[in-house]
Amino acid sequence: MTKTTPWLAGLPNPKVGVAGGPLDSWYRYYAGYSADLVSEVLAGLPEGETVLDPWNGTGTTTVMAARHGRPTRGFDVNPALVVVAKARLLGNSVAASIGALTDDIIAHASPVPVPDDPLLFWFDISCAEQIRGLQTSTDRLLVASDDTTSKTAEAVDAMSSLAAFFYVALFRTVRLLAAPTTGTNPTWWKKPAEAVLTPEPNAVKETFRQAAQELSRGLHGARLDGPVRAVVTTGDSRKLPLEDDAVGAALTSPPYCTRIDYAIATLPELAVLRTGDTDVRVLRDRMVGTPTVTGRRGQPGEWGPAAATFLGQVTAHPSKASSTYYLKFFEQYYAAMWESIGELRRVCRPGGTAVLIVQDNHYKDVHNDTPGILREMAAMAGFGSAERHDFAISRTMAAMNPRVRAYRSGSSALESVLVLSFRPAWRCPQTPARTPPHMTAWPPRTSPAACSRQSPPASATPAYAAPSFALAAPRQRPTA
Ligand SMILES: C[S@@+](CC[C@H](N)C(=O)[O-])C[C@H]1O[C@@H](n2cnc3c(N)ncnc32)[C@H](O)[C@@H]1O
Repeated sequence: MTKTTPWLAGLPNPKVGVAGGPLDSWYRYYAGYSADLVSEVLAGLPEGETVLDPWNGTGTTTVMAARHGRPTRGFDVNPALVVVAKARLLGNSVAASIGALTDDIIAHASPVPVPDDPLLFWFDISCAEQIRGLQTSTDRLLVASDDTTSKTAEAVDAMSSLAAFFYVALFRTVRLLAAPTTGTNPTWWKKPAEAVLTPEPNAVKETFRQAAQELSRGLHGARLDGPVRAVVTTGDSRKLPLEDDAVGAALTSPPYCTRIDYAIATLPELAVLRTGDTDVRVLRDRMVGTPTVTGRRGQPGEWGPAAATFLGQVTAHPSKASSTYYLKFFEQYYAAMWESIGELRRVCRPGGTAVLIVQDNHYKDVHNDTPGILREMAAMAGFGSAERHDFAISRTMAAMNPRVRAYRSGSSALESVLVLSFRPAWRCPQTPARTPPHMTAWPPRTSPAACSRQSPPASATPAYAAPSFALAAPRQRPTA
């Protein structure tokens, strides 16, 4: 059932449009959502609460929350995106110094040797040495360290927004220089047959200067150097470094269930951070929604009827690898989401609200209603109400892939806004608050039937929207 509340009804489409606003175009990211949407949603969330984004990406939630004067915490497992999100928190009060700082960085940059450097994926040695020279100079001036090893999570977490700004200028430099090797898929990089050569000796430095200038023009109007606490660090949505009940609101968009490789999508940025092949592989395996096979498939029987039905349909599908690779992929995705929603529930205090922007998709001709599945998971994890508002979108990976037409005529998808909330300031005493969701029983123990004695009067609480359903018959497991 799709319900709407007045503030949800007027929401703009979540997807960043082709034009986008100035904040959207600051750092283009395939998976980003629009700053306008974040503004609208923030206006509907309780004031004064810390706003969490456990899948923060380029930091649209954290920068808009800071702009609206709200304390905010953002996490992403990808250090390159943590750098982008930190840089977006830089207020325009520093805009006047960016030109002089860029000159300093360039003046102190000299080529740095690049044995086994990930930048050699695209560039010849001389070009890669110059890019490393700029990075080392940035570190010396703004990071208080010019060590030449890969940037660890700790190093990225400790980076200031100002240093992050110049790292983003380097990210942009690398993207611009590598542009001739870019394919049509915005989330995949193929090694070019020949390294891209620097067209002229000064091209790297000039591209960097230009990138810094363009980015500084895009620094948003608001001064973000006031007392608002906005903190962005690396972190895994399945194990957030936060206390129980630490936040009162969350606004986020989980990774899509469409086999996007979020690590490979940011390969140029990771290369700037000196992330080598082995670390990229580790990062890929840590991503929710990774297309790599990690072996972490959870307990599908606990995820509710919608998940059971969908996984059953995938298992039974006649197309190649449905009951092997694809089944594993979907189980991995929903196992990771199950853990993440449980974690969201743990860190959200009673009375809080979590807003999730979620896309549905198709596997061949089978509808994968991710918003519906997550909604059931949220009810089981202890969120008492889950509203859903759907938007039609067309900019999907499927829309770019002619092969999907073999299975369906249209490639449009739905972007859904899920609003999860607790009953205000009330938590069912029969539900052990800290029980991880994978240990909760079916049906959900927070259901009104299980908790009727403790429920506050109906007039004081929103209707319990958890769907009532019976478990589907166990599906056939694929035989080896
Ligand atoms: C749909 S994107 C979020 C986009 C973001 N709303 C924006 O506007 O840029 C999902 C993000 O989840 C991150 N992610 C994937 N697995 C994660 C995990 N286990 N923990 C935290 N973040 C993760 C990806 O790196 C990606 O940036």
